[in-house]
Amino acid sequence: MERIDVIDKGQSESFAREITDIEGTLPAGLDGTLLRNGAGATSVGEDRVAFLDAHALVAALDVRDGRAYFRAVHPDTAARREELAAGRLTRRRVFTNLRGWWKNAFNLELGNSACHDVYAWGGKVYAADLGEHWALAAPSLATEGPERWSSVVERDELLAPMPRDDVARGRLVAYALRRSPSKGDSLAFVEVDEALGKVARTAAVPLKGIVHDQAFTDRWYATFQIPVTPKPLPALLGTAPLWWAFGWRDEGPTLILAPRGREGEAVKVRLDASLRTIFHVINAYDDGDDVVIDAMGYDGPVLFDVVMPAAKRRAHRTPPNNRIVRVRATPANGTATVEPFEGAFGEAPEVAPAMHGKRHRAAWFAALPSGLEREASTYLFARRVGRLDVESGEVTSWDAGEGCHVSPVAFAPDTSSDDPEAGWALAWVLDLAKETCDVVVLDANDLPAGPIARVKLGAYLPATSHTRFAPGLRTRA
Ligand SMILES: [Fe+2]
Repeated sequence: MERIDVIDKGQSESFAREITDIEGTLPAGLDGTLLRNGAGATSVGEDRVAFLDAHALVAALDVRDGRAYFRAVHPDTAARREELAAGRLTRRRVFTNLRGWWKNAFNLELGNSACHDVYAWGGKVYAADLGEHWALAAPSLATEGPERWSSVVERDELLAPMPRDDVARGRLVAYALRRSPSKGDSLAFVEVDEALGKVARTAAVPLKGIVHDQAFTDRWYATFQIPVTPKPLPALLGTAPLWWAFGWRDEGPTLILAPRGREGEAVKVRLDASLRTIFHVINAYDDGDDVVIDAMGYDGPVLFDVVMPAAKRRAHRTPPNNRIVRVRATPANGTATVEPFEGAFGEAPEVAPAMHGKRHRAAWFAALPSGLEREASTYLFARRVGRLDVESGEVTSWDAGEGCHVSPVAFAPDTSSDDPEAGWALAWVLDLAKETCDVVVLDANDLPAGPIARVKLGAYLPATSHTRFAPGLRTRA
C-alpha cells in the first residue's frame, strides 16, 4: 500500500492511475469527479503542523461509464514551496505556532496552506482556505497559481474558504473579510460569474467574532458570527496558537443576513445561548418573509485540541456536542428561533447542490457517534455516512465499521432523474488498521442498503477536511 501523506519523501509525489479494483458496479448515471482537500502532511522537517493548516493534498476520483481514475496532487502553494526549501515551518498559522515563541511574537503574517476546501469552477479546480485560493488545471491538477477573485475582493481582504455555488444562476457566492485591529473587522458578501467576474458585492457588515461558511436564498446572504474576542496578549506575544487566543463570550452565535439582489440594510440576530458555535451552514431558503437556515451547531466552544500539536502533552478539554439545527429568522422584526434535529450528530453537512438557496428535503453528513471514546464530536473521527430527512426528522446511516473513518459526504446527482435530490452519497473511507482508502458510493436516499460500489484506491490518504462532487469535471489523463 502506498502512502501519499509523507512529506519526508519530498512531498513531490503525485498519483495518477486507472483504478480497476472495484467492488460492485459504478452507477451508469454517475458522471463527474469526487474531490477532497485536507492535510497532506502534518510535519515539515522536525516541525509538526496542525491538521487544519498543514500543506494541502487534493485528491480526485473521476468516474464515468462505470470506470474510475484516481489522481492526487500537493498544490504547489507559496507557503509550501518556501517551507519545503527551508526544511521547516517558516510561517505561523491559525492553529500552529512556529517553534520558539519569539518567532510568533507580533507575527500575524500567517501562512495559507489552501487545505480546507476544494471546488470546481469554470473548468478549473481550486484548493481553498481563508485568504487566497490556488487554481489547479484540469485534467492534470497542475498548480496554476493563486486566485483571489480580484473582481470583487479588494487587495487587503481575505476571500472566504468555502464558496457556495448557485447552480441555477451559474454563480459562486462567498464573502470578503477585512481585518482591522483599529477599526474592527467587517465582511461583505460577494458573488461572481463563470469567469470569476463581479456580479454583486454588498455593503460591509461589521463583525465582532469569526465567521466560516456562508449560504444564500433568493433574497438574502447568510452567515453566522461565532462570539469570540481576540485576547491580544497571548495572540501577539505568541504564547499560544491564535485559535486558543480567543475569549469565548457567553452568548449564542449571531446570524448575519444581508439583502441579495436588492437594496437594504443587513440584519443581525443573536441566537439564544443553547448554541455557542456554528461553522458550517447546510442550506438556506426563503419561506414567505422568514428565512430558514439549517446549520451544524455546537453547545460550547470548539478548541480543536485533538488536531493541535500544541495540545499533545496535556489532557484534552472536553469537546462540546454538535447537532444539526434549524434556525428560522424573521428579519422584519429581528427575531430567530433555534430547533435541534435530534440524533443528527456529525459535521461537514451538505445538501444536493441543486437545492442551494431552495427548500431541501435532505442533508448528508459525516455522522457520529464515531465509535471512538475520545473526541466524540470531532468530525475527523466520524465513521458513518448520515442522512437527515428534514421533513420527518429521521436520521438514517451507513456504518463503515470498526476502525474505519469516513470523510465528509459529497452528493452526486442522478441526472437521469427528475428529482434533484436523487443521486448518490460519496465518501472517502479510511481503514485505519489496514491503512487503505476506498471511495464508497451509496444510494443517497437509502444509506442503510450499503455501498453500491466500493473503489479501492490502492493508496492510503490522510483524513479529509471537505469533499465535493463536480458533475462533468474530468481529471482523467
Ligand atoms: Fe469548513
